[in-house]
Amino acid sequence: MESLLLKQLEETVTFIQNIYPQQPEAGIILGSGLGNLVNEINIEKEISYSDIPHFPVSTVEGHSGKLLMGTLSGKRVAVMAGRFHYYEGYTPQQVSYPVRVMKQLGVHTLLVSNAAGGVNPGFNVGDLMIIKDHISFFTVNPLIGKNEATLGARFPDMSEPYSKALITKAKAIGERLGFNLKEGVYTGVTGPTFETHAEYRLVKAVGGDAVGMSTVQEVITAVHAGLKVFAVSVITDIGIREEENKITHEEVLAAAKEAEPKLTQLFKEMVAVI
Ligand code: HPA
Repeated sequence: MESLLLKQLEETVTFIQNIYPQQPEAGIILGSGLGNLVNEINIEKEISYSDIPHFPVSTVEGHSGKLLMGTLSGKRVAVMAGRFHYYEGYTPQQVSYPVRVMKQLGVHTLLVSNAAGGVNPGFNVGDLMIIKDHISFFTVNPLIGKNEATLGARFPDMSEPYSKALITKAKAIGERLGFNLKEGVYTGVTGPTFETHAEYRLVKAVGGDAVGMSTVQEVITAVHAGLKVFAVSVITDIGIREEENKITHEEVLAAAKEAEPKLTQLFKEMVAVI
């Protein structure tokens, strides 16, 4: 008998394909305050999450909650303007459900952005950090539970969650555009609290360069599904500093806005070369 998950995925995908039958190549998930890429997309269909069967509904400020289907840099894309976070109360499976939908729609590559706190002392607010690896021990793994063998392996390999080939392409693009791209390890946490001083120090001690409340569950699900992944953090605050260490959501959104044009250009050029 078909599982509930497979049945739901089929209903979601059929609904979207009835509205937009063309097959997207790339899936894009945009982080907090990083939605401007949508202005570069030739949007052919816009679907509210609330209309899509089995899709959770986004609640956090700065997330608009729409699936956009169209073209960017000459490629068909499916773009999530607004994502789901574990701290909103969704299960890890709900958080990463849209990634499974993208895979079923035909996407082969996933591009992800997020706002993150810097713990590498060499980082500055507004830096873009290419995610070369992640640490997910501080979050709940979205693959816990019965494994659907048709969706992916029980024990997925995680030796290269972020495509090295895509990172090489991004660095070349960054160099050409004169961007000073950083590279590092993203550490996923549940939020919604920002970290204490001791926690920022812990993240640094375990090898993290940045810390944030999204991305790892989506990326784990993408790797499970066999998607290639490219992800970038916008460093919106320096958690590791001892002084002036009050962080607000407004500050995070403002810093994300500042750095957004660079991220938009990078993603636009990446889509052209995937
Ligand atoms: N910590 C966790 N998540 C974040 C931060 C941070 O400092 N900044 C933006 N998202």
